[in-house]
Amino acid sequence: MSATSTSPYPTAIAGDGLELRPWDEDLLAQLAHWGERGFPFHAFDLGHLRDPTRARAELRRAREAGPHRHFVACEGETAVGRVSVNLRDRAGLYLWAVHVPPEHEGRGVCRRMMAALIDWLEDEYPGPDFVLTTNTFAERAHRAYDALGFRVAETRWHYDRPLAEELWRAPRDQRKAIEKHLRFHNGRWEVRTHLMARPQGKSLR
Ligand SMILES: CC(C)(COP(=O)(O)OP(=O)(O)OC[C@H]1O[C@@H](n2cnc3c(N)ncnc32)[C@H](O)[C@@H]1OP(=O)(O)O)[C@@H](O)C(=O)NCCC(=O)NCCS
Repeated sequence: MSATSTSPYPTAIAGDGLELRPWDEDLLAQLAHWGERGFPFHAFDLGHLRDPTRARAELRRAREAGPHRHFVACEGETAVGRVSVNLRDRAGLYLWAVHVPPEHEGRGVCRRMMAALIDWLEDEYPGPDFVLTTNTFAERAHRAYDALGFRVAETRWHYDRPLAEELWRAPRDQRKAIEKHLRFHNGRWEVRTHLMARPQGKSLR
């Protein structure tokens, strides 16, 4: 479905057993109560949306007509995942904020919501590659990306600020679990990160 004349968003993007919708107040209220994972995935957690001021600001941001489009994956009226895309990144159509809460994981929500978004983007924005970055410890995410046709284009050390800040506070055992993906370099923590890419083309999955 194409974007409506008044909004940069389609009303919904149909996928396999789910649909992608733009953020609204009802969906945001669900996101605010999703289960959280904590370190090292704390940057995805959305408990801060229970604060009405932050919720209003996030909803405004999630609906504005800038370079980003933000979607909530819904099974019926239940919000089961979220994903965003930057339409104007120089590297390509840049997928980010790929997040499925623990209570909905392991059912292919990630794969199905990304497949729906990729199909829609191929129709609406033909041409550029799809790209994303992912910390090397996010192994579940990599399996989903691999199944969707993404391949590692480059691996590099990256300063991920929310992760680096939390690393100072994280208990030793938690840090140890991702130790092989980290280095302490020039006075700060860096994490190994994959840049993954996938050309357009429906036959790739
Ligand atoms: C990564 C994430 C989006 C996956 O969502 P999902 O809907 O569970 O993903 P899928 O069901 O499509 O499965 C992806 C892979 O993870 C595996 N998986 C998912 N949940 C699992 C669980 N609880 N236990 C073991 N494996 C699990 C799936 O089996 C699948 O692997 P397979 O192909 O080998 O079977 C979700 O776990 C998440 O939001 N994690 C935190 C944020 C994050 O890492 N985002 C991506 C950053 S780049």
